[in-house]
Amino acid sequence: MRQGAIYLLTDRPDRSAALETLIKAIGQCKVVGSSEEAVGYTKPCAIVSDLTLTRREAVSRLRAFIPHGKAAEIPLICLLRSTSDRDLRLARDLGATVCFPAYTAPHIVVNALLDQIGPDESDPKILPVVQGVTRATEVLTGLFDGVRDGGTIALPQLDASLDPILSAVREGGLNRWLETVWTHDDATYQHCLLVAGVAAQFVLHLGFRTEDREHFVRSALLHDVGKARIPREILNKPGRLDADETTIMRQHPVIGYEILRDSGCDATTLGAVRHHHEMLDGSGYPDGLVGAEISDTVRLLTICDIYAALTERRSYKPPMPPRDAMAILESMQGKLEMRLVQRFGDAMLAS
Ligand SMILES: [Fe+2]
Ligand SMILES: [Fe+2]
Repeated sequence: MRQGAIYLLTDRPDRSAALETLIKAIGQCKVVGSSEEAVGYTKPCAIVSDLTLTRREAVSRLRAFIPHGKAAEIPLICLLRSTSDRDLRLARDLGATVCFPAYTAPHIVVNALLDQIGPDESDPKILPVVQGVTRATEVLTGLFDGVRDGGTIALPQLDASLDPILSAVREGGLNRWLETVWTHDDATYQHCLLVAGVAAQFVLHLGFRTEDREHFVRSALLHDVGKARIPREILNKPGRLDADETTIMRQHPVIGYEILRDSGCDATTLGAVRHHHEMLDGSGYPDGLVGAEISDTVRLLTICDIYAALTERRSYKPPMPPRDAMAILESMQGKLEMRLVQRFGDAMLAS
C-alpha cells in the first residue's frame, strides 16, 4: 500500500478538475489551491504541480510541500505554462522528475505518475485502463492530425491500439474506462474513445472471437474520422448546430469513407464508417439505406454511437444517466434493431 497522498498543487482549479478526478481514481489525492499553505501536511507519495512557476510565490509554495532535503526521492510532475529552457531549468532545480506542457491530457499525466509510483494495491485495475486510454489517444491524435493535413491512415499503427482497448475494458471494467475518458478535453477524441470502450464491452459480452472483436473496435475507433476535416468551430460548437452547419457536419461519414478507401481499408470497416448514421426505416444519412441494406456491424455500431453521444460529458451540459440513454435507445423502435438494443442494455448492466 502506498504511503502518503498525491498532492495536486494548482492555481487554476477549473482546469485541474479533470486531472483531480483521474488522480483520485489511482489513489488518495489532496488538492491545494493557490492561497493554501502547507498546514496539516503529511509527507506526500508524489506531487503534481499545476502552478505558474514563473511567479515567485508559486515556487515558494511548491518548495513548502517538498520534504526538506528529500526532493529527489519524491516524484514531482510539473505542468509548465511554457516549455522554455528557463522554465524547464526552474522545474528541474525544484526536483521535477517529469515535465509536461500545461495542456497535456490528464490521462497522460496520470500514466506518467503511475510509472513513477506504481499502481496502488487498492485498485490494480486502473493501470490497464490508463495505459489503454493513453495508447488509444496517441493513436487517435496521430490519426486525426495526419488526416487533417490531407494524409491517409496508417492502419497497422491503429491496429496496435485495439488489444490495449479490449484488455483495458476486460480487466479494468467499462466504468473505469468511461471515468478516464470523460476527463478528456477534446470532444471528438472523447467521443471516439467512448464509442470504442462501449463497443469493446458490447462484443466482449456477445462473446465475439478475438479477430471479430478487434475488427469491431477498429470500426468504433475510426467511425468519425471524417470529422478531422470538419471545421473545429462546428465540431466544438456548444449547443445545437444551425441548418448550414448540420449540412456540413453530415458530410463526415462520406469524408471518413473516402479517407479510409484511400488508405486501403477493408470493406466492413468502410461500410461501418459510411453508414453509422443510417436507420433501419430509411431516415438516416448519407445514403438513406433501408432494413436489410444495413449490415450487422453497422447496426451494432450505431447503437454504441448513439449511447456514447447521449452520455458524453461536456462543460455546457450535464451528462445523461445511463438509464435515460437506454430509454432513448429503446424508444427508437423501427430505426434500431430492438433485439440488439436489448443485448446492448444487458452488456452495459454487466459492466
Ligand atoms: Fe458520426
Ligand atoms: Fe459518432
